[in-house]
Amino acid sequence: MGKYIINGKKRLEGEITLQGAKNAALPIMAASVLCGEEVVLHNVPDITDVSIMKKILSSIGCFVKTEGNTLTIDPSNISDSVVSESLVSKMRSSIILLGSVLARTKKAKFSYPGGCDIGLRPIDMHLKGLKDLGAVITEEHGYIIADGKDLHSGNIHLNYPSVGATENLILASVFSKGVTAISNAAKEPEIVDLQYFLNKMGARIYGAGTNTVYIEGIKELHGCEYTIMSDRIVSPTYMCAVNMCGGDVFMRGASLDNIKSPYYKLIESGLDVTAFADGIRVRSDGKVSNLDSIISMPYPGFPTDLQPIFTAMLCLAEGTSIINETVFENRYRFTSQLKRMGADIKIEGRIALIRGVKSLSATRVYSEDLRGGAALTLAALCADGQSVVEDVEYIMRGYEDFHTNLEKIGSDIRYVPF
Ligand code: UD1
Repeated sequence: MGKYIINGKKRLEGEITLQGAKNAALPIMAASVLCGEEVVLHNVPDITDVSIMKKILSSIGCFVKTEGNTLTIDPSNISDSVVSESLVSKMRSSIILLGSVLARTKKAKFSYPGGCDIGLRPIDMHLKGLKDLGAVITEEHGYIIADGKDLHSGNIHLNYPSVGATENLILASVFSKGVTAISNAAKEPEIVDLQYFLNKMGARIYGAGTNTVYIEGIKELHGCEYTIMSDRIVSPTYMCAVNMCGGDVFMRGASLDNIKSPYYKLIESGLDVTAFADGIRVRSDGKVSNLDSIISMPYPGFPTDLQPIFTAMLCLAEGTSIINETVFENRYRFTSQLKRMGADIKIEGRIALIRGVKSLSATRVYSEDLRGGAALTLAALCADGQSVVEDVEYIMRGYEDFHTNLEKIGSDIRYVPF
């Protein structure tokens, strides 16, 4: 895999444009399968996970065309409802297609997604919900085989507000007669974006962003044009980078609307933030104050996807910080690499105790997952000397133009492909 070679301690200054949201683009692409006509999506991030989703859509018979950040998907000739192991293993979240393929073709066969680098990530709530909606599901030879000819509306209560399960169940319910209610639903902004998109195609969905989502079944959907929301994990990543390195950066297209929890933590840690109609300006003298409590939680709580990024930032804070990772059980693996750079981190179960150090020292570190890899890159940006961050293809799964954006605002970073 490729690497970043980074000479640290450069102040960040300039402007970057914020990308579309990965976690909205993927379910919206999956939702396009429900439609019998062409769909045009704008602001789709150019990242590897989107490329994998395009491959999966093509593999089941969708026509997919890319022009810059605009995707045209024509699902009118879907010919297959089988998603192979080789594609599911490349992207675990391809499981969000299960609901839409099932609702559109009344059958689906998906390879069972395994655990991943941040936890076991079971899909029991997806499968139980689909069964409660009338799907007959069997598991054979590592495949989930679903029969959806008797899909019906119903009342589903999730034991935990799972983002993927909420999305899958919304997608599976779009054509079911009557009203489906999903309670204890995830409230993430990407679910609201999915609702907007589906309703633009003619669906009748209410309540996304609240505890209960209602789906009133309709007969068919029509094509539409839709712009994906901005990414609410990527903007705080760059904000943390500025806080760590010092600087003055304008993020065009960024908004504080969906990032209240990380925003208040960043203010507390010393970052100066000004919101404008067309973006956010962040300024810092490079001094980071400690944060005595970050608890990752479902939205509107602190996002688990930012936990690794904030952990990297707090390695340089003045004082001790405590993080409690409540969403994924194995999301601290990247900290062993931060320790190689001189970070003082103690992990006890789901708690991380981070004692700030004056400086991190440059070395070679290895990415093992998307956000952990981004965290290591931020650490390298303010380390003393030259660092090498290996296996950066993990980072490219979710960050569009990461190194070119960082270079544009003054980082000394070079991407060396394998
Ligand atoms: C989505 C996001 C991911 C983010 C996560 C939590 C996408 C493509 N990915 O992942 O970036 O980190 O939300 O905000 O949108 N769980 C079960 N059984 C299930 C489903 C989930 O036990 O059937 C558990 C998971 O293992 C995890 C927790 O619930 O511990 C939250 O998972 P979930 O909200 O489903 O995350 P994803 O949809 O996989």
